[in-house]
Amino acid sequence: MTRDAFFVTTPIYYVNDVPHIGHAYTSIAADVMARFHRLSGRPTRFLTGTDEHGQKVETAAGKAGKSPKQFADDVVVHFKELWKTLKISHDRLIRTTDADHEAFVAILWEKMRQAGDIYHGDYEGWYCVHDETFWTQGQLLEGNLCPNPWCKRPVSKHKETSYFFRLSKYTQPLLDYYAAHPDFVLPDFRMNEVRSFVQQGLNDLSISRSNFSWGIPVPGDPKHVIYVWVDALANYIAGAGYMHDQKMYETFWPADVHLIGKDILRFHAVFWPAFLMSAGLPLPAHVFAHGFWTIEGQKMSKSLGNWIDPNDMIRAYGLDPLRFYLMREIPLGADGDFSQAALVGRINSDLANDLGNLLSRSLAMVGKYLDGVVPAPTAGDSPLARLCLDAEARCFAAIAECNTHRALLAAWDIISRANKYIDEAAPWVLAKDAAKKRELEGVLYDLLEAQRRLAMLLWPFMPDTAEKMLAQLGVAPKAVKPGNWGELAQGTTVRRGEALFPRIETKAPAPAADAPKAAEPAPAAGAAPEGVAIVSYDDFARLQFKVGVVLEAERVPKADKLLKLLVDTGEKRTIVAGVAQHYAPEAMIGRQIVVLCNLAPRALRGIESHGMLLAAKDKEGHLKLLTIDGPLPAGSSIS
Ligand code: MSP
Repeated sequence: MTRDAFFVTTPIYYVNDVPHIGHAYTSIAADVMARFHRLSGRPTRFLTGTDEHGQKVETAAGKAGKSPKQFADDVVVHFKELWKTLKISHDRLIRTTDADHEAFVAILWEKMRQAGDIYHGDYEGWYCVHDETFWTQGQLLEGNLCPNPWCKRPVSKHKETSYFFRLSKYTQPLLDYYAAHPDFVLPDFRMNEVRSFVQQGLNDLSISRSNFSWGIPVPGDPKHVIYVWVDALANYIAGAGYMHDQKMYETFWPADVHLIGKDILRFHAVFWPAFLMSAGLPLPAHVFAHGFWTIEGQKMSKSLGNWIDPNDMIRAYGLDPLRFYLMREIPLGADGDFSQAALVGRINSDLANDLGNLLSRSLAMVGKYLDGVVPAPTAGDSPLARLCLDAEARCFAAIAECNTHRALLAAWDIISRANKYIDEAAPWVLAKDAAKKRELEGVLYDLLEAQRRLAMLLWPFMPDTAEKMLAQLGVAPKAVKPGNWGELAQGTTVRRGEALFPRIETKAPAPAADAPKAAEPAPAAGAAPEGVAIVSYDDFARLQFKVGVVLEAERVPKADKLLKLLVDTGEKRTIVAGVAQHYAPEAMIGRQIVVLCNLAPRALRGIESHGMLLAAKDKEGHLKLLTIDGPLPAGSSIS
């Protein structure tokens, strides 16, 4: 990703049914990437679309008593509305029934034919209509089920004359390409999967169908329609402007990232590059396969009654909390489980408590001590400035690697540090001493400027929240760009508004997946006493404390305060603890300690620390470990 322009795509979604939370997830992740690249000033194109041809859509239309085109026209409205509701900022939604797309598919076919890669033959095998995929007998599960773990539906036998693509010819060229571009598929473990699959040797691929008619006709042989995956993959180039805007095409193709779910990796990382090689067209830079969401432990399906409509979640919890939850809960690339309880937990803890409280406390103090007017910046070096600039750099670097999760965590470092900075600087103490007025102003300026910049980093994830933050800080939404520290103008009037995120009462069970209810807004987070973050019982209950037994302890080289511990908390974990000036390593071994287990892992001096041990400190800084009053097995819970 070194050129200036940036082009990200989502898969084009089948229109056999309305969209669900999995579709929303892919589009939100792509939206976050597009927004970040726009923020950094790169010309950006973001393409999404709908996959409207093929047997699956034809069958669904038949069941609905509509023509396939009418059916697609009706369903596509749901996608368009959802993207609007989710604030997806795509530049185009391409439909495979669009004229420029259809024209390009015929051109692609012709290019592959001219390369000698298309021939006529007989196909005999199995077909999964749901996945629009051919399978051989040996690949099937239990004799007749689709082997895709996300499908496992019965397949049907197919025997027809069809056109074939010489995929086998591309086995070695693909392997050579992967060797030369080891980051073609991301995350890297997916690259290994693809490579192993291709190393087994590729079979030629049937690329036309003649037993139904809803598709793009094969040029010169209209009894056949082009296989829906050849049709669908072509959208990426058609949508870059190949047929109608040569300049746009040259600016944006090849795409930087095809963001897809792991279910369709083979089509994107094997078939698509082979088609492009055959047609003599440039290959995309990266295919990023994200993981799949299960719903409270199960595969999402209408028959199981756990189908999640994103609109219901937005009505119950709001748009930004949903966008945040989906991006925060799992790293892009990993699988995750969608749980409304976890979503509520994130709203109350990360959003209301960490973020909402930070803004509300800061503005309350500026209101009280400075009449709501932004003071002059600190004269000297600001600890928050350093932290913010570093977090920003880490955030953009993470996005360059499609790591939306790490980017969000980097933004959160600013929130955590700023909250701590308030507690350490204690503006309410400074305010009592007239001689400390400049110091007080400096602290409050830093807090406001940090949050102005924070809003910029949060905008791709939570656009509405970022704009609300800026409005309260008295800054025009478009004014925040990566730039120098200290651009918040002295004299600006801040406007403390409503709490960004009302807390959600959790005494009543969270609404069931199929019947979301509007959440009762509880007292605003802004009601917390000034300067002190109040945690609810629910927040407290999310912390997992356990009895740990120290198995090993050693000093961390060149860090006189740190010990690296191996601790048994029911499972073995490494903890880096700042106790080296109070406890010798040998004095730690065998001790029973109190461990906070579910703290996010953090690297200290290059060592990943999983959890924190608890200790008490007096005013002089003497430190004593919290221990257990009598022996208990390692891993015993503490509550
Ligand atoms: N039409 C094809 C894609 C053609 S792209 C050239 C298709 N469409 S789909 O409607 O089935 O959508 C697939 C995409 O939706 C997945 O690749 C994934 O991005 C997203 N998801 C569908 N279910 C999902 C989950 N349960 N979890 C996460 N993402 C999911 O395949």
